[in-house]
Amino acid sequence: MIKVAPSILSADYVNLQRDIEKVDKGGAEVLHIDIMDGQFVPALSYGPGWVKAIRPITDMTLDVHMMVQSPERFVDQFADAGADIIGVHVEATPHIHRALQMIKNKGVKAEVVINPGTPVSAITPVLYMVDQVLVMTVNPGFGGQKFLPETVKKIAELNEIKKSEGLDFDIEIDGGVNEHTVVGAYQAGATVAVAGSYVFDADDPVSRIKAIKDATK
Ligand code: DX5
Ligand code: ZN
Repeated sequence: MIKVAPSILSADYVNLQRDIEKVDKGGAEVLHIDIMDGQFVPALSYGPGWVKAIRPITDMTLDVHMMVQSPERFVDQFADAGADIIGVHVEATPHIHRALQMIKNKGVKAEVVINPGTPVSAITPVLYMVDQVLVMTVNPGFGGQKFLPETVKKIAELNEIKKSEGLDFDIEIDGGVNEHTVVGAYQAGATVAVAGSYVFDADDPVSRIKAIKDATK
């Protein structure tokens, strides 16, 4: 069964604590926090202050997805704010190895992220040092987009490398995830599913978490 990571990008910001407690009690293991800088992606979202505010109200794993150019600039701030996992895009820095090292040096789990247009080969040199790989299943920047099925073969490719090299990282998917799209990704080796609009746009977010889990039993 896949772990579910609701993305607060689609939550109700004026009732954020209520929404977070709902998904926490509803069985989600991870809370996904999307950081957008208006440069790497067009939109702006929020910064380390939000992670700091959320930290005391939940024990869920806080998964910070940095859609930020030169993410090294902010790694320490997100680590100090209480992130459990920090994800950096390989496309956002010429120094991905250094960025991952910085995350690990703060005692935080390190995640490398690849866009739909980026091959797995772009990250093979750093796979030995990561706790999680995030395979974007949409182009990053917005919630509510359609899942790109061609990304699934990259999940399978990563899963092969994981087995053949004896590595131990989680494989996360993000974008357009619902009870249908999650199935192929799970079969290919995904272990964590981010879901934003599918969970928070529903009248009953908990039923959506359950639907994703039931589809991957
Ligand atoms: C997209 C973000 C996602 C987003 C997913 O750039 O990284 O985490 O919240 O939203 P849905 O699940 O609605 O596609
Ligand atoms: Zn995300």
